[in-house]
Amino acid sequence: MAALNTLILITNPHHRMSIIPQAVLSSSNYKMRVPFELKQGQSRHFHKLPSGLNMEVIFQKGHDKIDEESRRPPLVFVHGSFHAAWCWAEHWLPFFSQNGFDCYALSLLGQGESDSPAGAVAGSLQTHAADVADFIHKEIQSPPVLLGHSFGGLIVQYYLANVGNAKKTREMEHSHPYLAGGVLVCSVPPSGNSGLVWRYLFSKPIAAFKVTRSLAAKAFQTSLPLCKETFFSAAMEDHLVLRYQKLMTESSRMPLFDLRKLNASLPVPPMKDSSIKILVLGAKDDFIVDAEGLNETGRFYGVSPVCIEGIAHDIMLDCSWGKGAQAILSWLAVLERAD
Ligand SMILES: *[C@@H]1O[C@H](CO)[C@@H](O)[C@H](O)[C@H]1NC(C)=O
Ligand SMILES: *[C@@H]1O[C@H](CO)[C@@H](O)[C@H](O)[C@H]1NC(C)=O
Repeated sequence: MAALNTLILITNPHHRMSIIPQAVLSSSNYKMRVPFELKQGQSRHFHKLPSGLNMEVIFQKGHDKIDEESRRPPLVFVHGSFHAAWCWAEHWLPFFSQNGFDCYALSLLGQGESDSPAGAVAGSLQTHAADVADFIHKEIQSPPVLLGHSFGGLIVQYYLANVGNAKKTREMEHSHPYLAGGVLVCSVPPSGNSGLVWRYLFSKPIAAFKVTRSLAAKAFQTSLPLCKETFFSAAMEDHLVLRYQKLMTESSRMPLFDLRKLNASLPVPPMKDSSIKILVLGAKDDFIVDAEGLNETGRFYGVSPVCIEGIAHDIMLDCSWGKGAQAILSWLAVLERAD
């Protein structure tokens, strides 16, 4: 039973955190202690939310945009737990920029170099989706493709459920601007992760114990092998795992959600506009989201999931990061032709 209780902590990895006194509203420009050095062509700015809090944005412009007609949709990236904008900036931003897409990677509140709100958790599915919507509304000119990884995928799903059902409404009253598409990358399924927890418990007790220790007890922050097993392929070089482990530890200053409250907003409601194209992308060696979770997300959106072999949960940082990027690029090409 003790094991079960610990396991349930996956649904609330920060359950055991002692109550943090009301955080002082950090005014701006929180500096990570392990700063991510931007790549050539990237810039960082802060998007001011209606609350006055700043959201970190890493931007990289698309190369070789020929004319208006072949204009590619901007890409907006949303990270998951323990990550921030930097996870996309490492490989995928240069890749998609090279292929002509303007790229924007956001850090959710309380993560990366974004401000932290007062309180013990960074927000809810609703507030994070609203922050992304505010950014898109104010900074993005044409409907973007919104991409989310892991828990960021759940935020993207929540956003998708709230997009109005006509392109025309975009400029107008609708709070969640229209999208050209949505990409769910190793995403937590629409019902949340309680299904994952039960499946692990019955089918893979050892893995369940490890993933719990790794995520709930945040042991991945101190154990290199565990960090590797949780997020990366065995082939990943240790010096890279070490670097990302430090960035993960530094970038998540507060939990993204109160996962017990999160459960009340699940499952995610279906999309109002089912014409929005969705790609569900998974990784064969994902230690966190299993094949059944991937299938569930695919069924929810009525699409066949694409599952990439030889890659782990951190598909954008893992050694074969190019495989997932290529799969998205192929899907984007079809999306453009369908337009
Ligand atoms: C979350 O909700 C689901 C379905 O509503 C329920 O089966 C599950 O026990 C809940 N989990 C927690 C941790 O509250
Ligand atoms: C997921 O779906 C695929 C294709 O329909 C199927 O072959 C596979 O058995 C499913 N896996 C699980 C674990 O449900």
